[in-house]
Amino acid sequence: MNRHLVSINDLTKDDAILILDTAKELAQISDRPVKKLPTLRGRTIVNLFFEDSTRTRISFEAAAKRLSADVINFSAKGSSVSKGESLKDTAQTLQSMGADAVVIRHPASGAPNLLASRNWINAVVINAGDGTHEHPTQALLDSYTIRKHLKNNQGDLSGLRIAIVGDILHSRVARSNALLIKKLGATPVLVAPPTLMPKGINDWECDFSFNLDEIIENVDSVMMLRVQQERMTAAYFPTAREYSRNFGLNSARLKKMKKNALVLHPGPMNRGMEITAEVADSTNSVVIEQVANGVSVRMAVLYLLLGGPQNEAESGN
Ligand code: NCD
Repeated sequence: MNRHLVSINDLTKDDAILILDTAKELAQISDRPVKKLPTLRGRTIVNLFFEDSTRTRISFEAAAKRLSADVINFSAKGSSVSKGESLKDTAQTLQSMGADAVVIRHPASGAPNLLASRNWINAVVINAGDGTHEHPTQALLDSYTIRKHLKNNQGDLSGLRIAIVGDILHSRVARSNALLIKKLGATPVLVAPPTLMPKGINDWECDFSFNLDEIIENVDSVMMLRVQQERMTAAYFPTAREYSRNFGLNSARLKKMKKNALVLHPGPMNRGMEITAEVADSTNSVVIEQVANGVSVRMAVLYLLLGGPQNEAESGN
């Protein structure tokens, strides 16, 4: 396995399946009264967050703690970064604190790659979302959730059609998911208004449509994306109401879907915009479960990149 996890392209299909299988094993820990393994005892993991996050940061923190690692949370607000400290200087500070892994979220696409490709630190770099580029652990937890429900928690996702709907243009979740779904043998179907579909969409080598109603009956899962207003520099659709009417998931559309089709959303949801409250809380929705699965998947990523079978042998654990 590659030393860092910056992009889904860092993983082979076998790596991705190993992560999902390991997450399945580790999920059992979360059901125990004592949710802890000694695997990463003595290792230091830094959560380096230059952008707001609730779920992802807490999830990485819970994952690291369940593996007994020491966790340092570093948020850019209130740090020297707001005084203009460069990524390099921040990285070197973390290096001198003995960080074994840096989980980084950054508004600039490419920041985790920069950290992984320079010799500023020895730590393993894990991308927790960079700009509009990638969010690989989100994709892994989404595929984990789909595999659990539709593939008996094993193997790949072959034969499934999975719609990714909404603000694809600004979404790092969409790119990572499209790459991973393809890697796992399923077909991603990208759905967005033309203004929110990225320009070189043919290069993504996915199916795509500008009409949600056209594809909704024939997909096995629907991933709804948040309309990312904070990244929009222009008007991409006339009104919120029109967006919801054409691209929102509501009860009428849910009724047309396959009976056991799943509804996913990475959160935070704009209820009433891309998804109605009714659909978000329906039995097809796995939104809450995605959060729980996120902890197991991130435990698996930390374990495989930091501990792993070979390191256990070395340390005699
Ligand atoms: C996503 C993100 O931050 O990229 N959320 C998340 O990680 N749970 C998606 C989003 O913000 O819409």
